[in-house]
Amino acid sequence: MLIKTSHDGFCHPVSSEITSQRVYAGRRDLIKLMASGVAGAALTSWASREAEALTPRPGKLAALPGARSSLAGAVTMEKLTEYKDASTYNNFYEFGTDKADPAVNAHTLKTSPWTVEIEGLVKKPARYALEDLLKLSAQEERIYRLRCVEGWSMVIPWVGYSLSELIKRVEPLGNAKYVEFVTQADPKTMPFVGSRVLDWPYVEGLRMDEAMHPLTLLSFGMYGEVLPNQNGAPVRLVVPWKYGFKSGKSLVKIRFTDKQPGTAWNKAAANEYGFFSNVNPTVDHPRWSQATERRIGEDGLFAKKRKTLMFNGYEAQVGQLYAGMDLKKLF
Ligand code: MTE
Repeated sequence: MLIKTSHDGFCHPVSSEITSQRVYAGRRDLIKLMASGVAGAALTSWASREAEALTPRPGKLAALPGARSSLAGAVTMEKLTEYKDASTYNNFYEFGTDKADPAVNAHTLKTSPWTVEIEGLVKKPARYALEDLLKLSAQEERIYRLRCVEGWSMVIPWVGYSLSELIKRVEPLGNAKYVEFVTQADPKTMPFVGSRVLDWPYVEGLRMDEAMHPLTLLSFGMYGEVLPNQNGAPVRLVVPWKYGFKSGKSLVKIRFTDKQPGTAWNKAAANEYGFFSNVNPTVDHPRWSQATERRIGEDGLFAKKRKTLMFNGYEAQVGQLYAGMDLKKLF
């Protein structure tokens, strides 16, 4: 995100953001079709991309079904991002800083055996094997918008359950005010751990009420399958009203503390990436506006930028958590 060199920052255009050959060819073909009067047919085929997002794929991952969530705000009816976009346009700096890197490099991540430790200010510290964590509560499907701080967004059907289900089990103590999320940092399997882009491991944090909010999802899958490595296998967080970098991937520790945790991007550039990082179109990043976003997959001829919504559209559900706070100062 910050960035001092041409390799280490969110703000630099990367090769995958420059109009791809596929998109360019699509535009050129559509212009030809319009000239020949068959644009209607082309538009119909564009519409069918929605169905494509969920069609079975060769070599697909293990199924992980979840019952559609009935929680308020948990299922947006917006068009899904195609699986191939959601799994090939990623930020996962442990595997490289280009959006295309994680899909290419993350096959080295070893996701089994996997354990998640719960420690700090809790009555019942625990060490969960992934298999036990998976069964701790019923898996739900939630369709969330994910808005990245860089100005793009996706709509992804995640599978998981509310993090609060796990938190309740371990019984936080009265002085636990924050939750720290520590992610895997293994230089043997993650080629960019050790690079100087960030202070490893990648750490994120939430205030206790944010962590307990039912929309905060502990996620094990997407599109009805287990998570692909590049999306944070085998378990990650998804906090839909915050910029994407708050959603730590490949979690190994969840620690309850009385002090606000030092988080990876905040440590790298405190004036650019605050602790709260709620999606807020009225608070610009120091180097770019946050008022609009580009929906991944809508990069065709008629694509318009979308207006970014306060709390990424989840204001009705989470606005109350921030009542009375100055969100310009506590960005
Ligand atoms: N988690 C770890 N461990 N490392 C990272 O580099 N990138 C974050 C977040 N979680 C990141 C991470 C950022 S910037 C975003 S936008 C989201 O993951 C992207 O998640 P996605 O690839 O599933 O879209």
